[in-house]
Amino acid sequence: MSLYNKVLVLHCIPHYVIIFKEGVLSMKTRNYLNRCGRMSVIILCVLFNQLNAKVETMVEKNLYGKLPDGREVYQFTLKNASGATVKLINYGAIVTSLCVPNRNGVIEDVVLGYDSLQGYINDQSYFGAIVGRYGNRINKGTFVLDGKEYHLTINDGENHLHGGKFGFFKALWDAKVVNDSAGPSVAMTYVSPDGEEGYPGNVTITVTYTLTNDNALKIVYEGKTDKPTLLNPTHHSYFNLSGSLTTSILDHKLTIDADSITEIDNRLIPTGRLLDVTNTPFDFRTFHTIGERINDNHLQLQYGKGYDHNWALNSFNGKVRKVVEVYEEKSGRVLEVLTDQPGIQFYSGNFLDGSQKGKGVVYQHRTAFCLEPQCFPDSPNHPNFPS
Ligand code: BGC
Repeated sequence: MSLYNKVLVLHCIPHYVIIFKEGVLSMKTRNYLNRCGRMSVIILCVLFNQLNAKVETMVEKNLYGKLPDGREVYQFTLKNASGATVKLINYGAIVTSLCVPNRNGVIEDVVLGYDSLQGYINDQSYFGAIVGRYGNRINKGTFVLDGKEYHLTINDGENHLHGGKFGFFKALWDAKVVNDSAGPSVAMTYVSPDGEEGYPGNVTITVTYTLTNDNALKIVYEGKTDKPTLLNPTHHSYFNLSGSLTTSILDHKLTIDADSITEIDNRLIPTGRLLDVTNTPFDFRTFHTIGERINDNHLQLQYGKGYDHNWALNSFNGKVRKVVEVYEEKSGRVLEVLTDQPGIQFYSGNFLDGSQKGKGVVYQHRTAFCLEPQCFPDSPNHPNFPS
């Protein structure tokens, strides 16, 4: 049986993770959020196999810890009708755990995380967080909007990464349980003040997480501003579908529906050119394991220290479509990504180096990967990039 057929077979049993990013940016040009503009984006939806036993859906709220200034951080546990759970904290709007069944119904955690609030306060890898205002890098932290040049916090060499030093991921969000007939749901809101990390305009962002009863985790973004600005948030969970957070992700099989990537320089900043993936280790239009070509002698892989690139997704027309599938054979889990966004950053955990630990284990090199649907990195500086 061909690999493709195997995956089709898997589709018959509902082991899915779907990352879902959908929405409309009501803007004239590029990924700018206009005055009073609203953005509604669904970014993450996780679907797994349903268990037969029906469980009560619920959201449980517990004190998780206190920030150094005394503010309280809460954890919300969302449990759906089939027993899957997601745990969220309102610090960074972080997913701290995502427990879903394997093909035998055994529920295991598939995301990296820490054991306490202090771990997330110290974290510099964005574990499970909402990053922004602008996901990924902006060259030298500089962009021009309406003729004015803005300078953002520099936090990655000479560049701006994931919204700056604190951004959305170190913020305390207001959280409330909301009604969603699809399943247990929590909405988190953060007001990012004018000038924060160098960005113009007050931005109110609401991220709604719903764990649907058919085992989908949906993340919806909504943003409002009072000045033209940039907004390109994304979600930064580190996945390992095996159920063991110590095993390498190199044997996970991956497809990405993209004919090209945005070529990067040695600072991981797009050159502005699109690189055709044909005959390169970046061609995931059919299934390949993550590890199969990761050590190939290719300059782009050397720059990224593995995969750390934006795939320019096919069929970008503002509508949600499936763009990625990841399959882990031993557990039978499949992760599907759906998005309406033009790009997705696939990061193969190249900077994990054993210095972080949590959940009883040490996180070694390439024991997790991220998939971050978003506008292309550094889009504000590349008029040829879509928004
Ligand atoms: C970036 C990486 C970065 C990682 C964690 C990813 O989204 O593309 O370059 O190292 O986040 O910081």
